Amino acid sequence: LPYTEKTPSIQLKAKSTVNIKYDFSPAKIDEESFPFLVWRKIAKELIDESNSSLLQSGHPQGEIELRTQIARYLYESRGIICDAEQIVIGSGTEQLLPMILRLFDHTPRLALENPGYSPIPRVHLQNQAIPIAVDDEGIQVDQLEQTDAKLVYITPSHQFPTGAILSAARRTHLLSWAMADQGRYIIEDDYDSEFRYIGKPIPALQSIDKAERVIYMSTFSKSFMPSLRVAYFILPHSLITKYKAVFSYYACTVPRFDQQMLSEFMLQGYFSKHLNRMRKIYRRKHDKILSIFEKNYPEVTISGDMAGMHMLISFKHSLDEQLIKEHLLKKHIRIQPLSQYTINKKENTNPSFILGFGGIPYAEIDQAIHQLMNAIYETT
Ligand SMILES: Cc1ncc(COP(=O)(O)O)c(C=O)c1O
Repeated sequence: LPYTEKTPSIQLKAKSTVNIKYDFSPAKIDEESFPFLVWRKIAKELIDESNSSLLQSGHPQGEIELRTQIARYLYESRGIICDAEQIVIGSGTEQLLPMILRLFDHTPRLALENPGYSPIPRVHLQNQAIPIAVDDEGIQVDQLEQTDAKLVYITPSHQFPTGAILSAARRTHLLSWAMADQGRYIIEDDYDSEFRYIGKPIPALQSIDKAERVIYMSTFSKSFMPSLRVAYFILPHSLITKYKAVFSYYACTVPRFDQQMLSEFMLQGYFSKHLNRMRKIYRRKHDKILSIFEKNYPEVTISGDMAGMHMLISFKHSLDEQLIKEHLLKKHIRIQPLSQYTINKKENTNPSFILGFGGIPYAEIDQAIHQLMNAIYETT
């Protein structure tokens, strides 16, 4: 029965949408290769009366089955040794990072990469994050040493957004920074390490840290789908007691059925099959983009393309990044300028854009890049 017969007085306005033809956003994944068939089969099996216990609240850290699968996967793919008890599942990096910060008695000073992943400075309470510059070897650890930071958030396997890979020397330096003081920890965000195109796989910092100073975090947003909202962190043993004291009453933010589906997907070997398939698909896209630039736009510098689902394109002459972004939107193309991810924005001497290629279908790459470049050059 309707609660009221009155017509609602609030008129919902239709959202104005920009029609985007080519979206180079780094958060997009390939839609054509999603394993709908298998995912539907697992959902059908799980959503059944025999699993009625899943209607009740679950473990605050997430389903033990999923945590066990994550621990096994990380051991096999990243050399990470941890057990399910150390893993906490949550619905995203933005939801998990504030939880990590709450494990410390006084909100610790957090240092972060600049440019860097934009939600991070925003989730830090009181907005007091300390920006540390990044170069082609990753975060500049000697700058970090000059600060009073207790925590540092980094993306060492593929710096977001520049794509730099933290060099071996910097890794050692960073671990020694953490060990030099009792309360120092490194938060390692390994968000897209599944996809590496050039060179040997880079070990996770967590796997070479002998002093338990790394809080490892990762997500299924790149490797599977961003709308699933499943991410996790691994706590060093020294922080588990504190975690249990602060968060035992928290409900896990990911629905239990979704967690169980993902766990089955991993257990039955579909996740590793999916990753192998996606590696080929993204590598093909990656190689195609590089060859288009090499042949047609040799004046554009490409960097950060060793891994992941985005690369950086930079121009030598002066261009207004914001003006280009707006002009491109009028042409139904979305691309983010590097300055969007920079704290204390200053003009980039080499205007740069993050070219995410996950969401561009392979067959449309040629057209997409040419239309992008034509539109950029129209502004000069
Ligand atoms: C550096 C970085 N971390 C994490 C994520 C994913 O976060 P979430 O798990 O909240 O989807 C992204 C997504 O683009 C990212 O760029």
